[in-house]
Amino acid sequence: MASLDTLFEAAKAIQAKAYAPYSRFKVGAAIATPDGRIFTGCNVENAAYPVGSCAEAGAISAMIVGGESRIAEIVVMGDGEHLVTPCGGCRQRIREFAGPDTPIHIAGPEGIRKRFTLAELLPFSFGPDNLTDR
Ligand code: THU
Repeated sequence: MASLDTLFEAAKAIQAKAYAPYSRFKVGAAIATPDGRIFTGCNVENAAYPVGSCAEAGAISAMIVGGESRIAEIVVMGDGEHLVTPCGGCRQRIREFAGPDTPIHIAGPEGIRKRFTLAELLPFSFGPDNLTDR
C-alpha cells in the first residue's frame, strides 16, 4: 500500500499542473490502488465552461488507462480555507470504483485536513450492483 504521505505529495505535485485560468482554482487528485500504484489528475478547464473536467475525473481516467479499476483511497487537494470535497458528479465517479468504506482524504497545501468514507459523502448510492437487479 502506498503511504498517505506519498499520496498527499502526488496530489500536491499534480495540483500544480492544473489548467484553471477561469476559476483560478487548482485541484489535484491522487488515487492509490489496492496494490499501491498511484494515479493522478488535475482539473482541466475550457473556454466553454461546462466542458471543463475535474481532477478526480482525470485521476480515474489515468487509473483506467493504467489497467486498474479499484480505488483503495484517494486524496483530493485544493487551496483556500474551505474543504475541497469532491463535487457531486465526482462522488459518483469515485463510487464506480470504490466501496462504502473507501477513504477520501481532503487536503490543503499544509497536509490532510479531513478523512471521509465514500458512504459519508454519497450515502445510499447507486452503483454497478443496482444494475444486476434487472
Ligand atoms: N474541481 C475539481 O477539480 N474537483 C472538485 O472536486 C471540485 C471542483 C474543479 C472544477 C473547476 O475547474 C474548479 O475546481 C472550480 O470549480
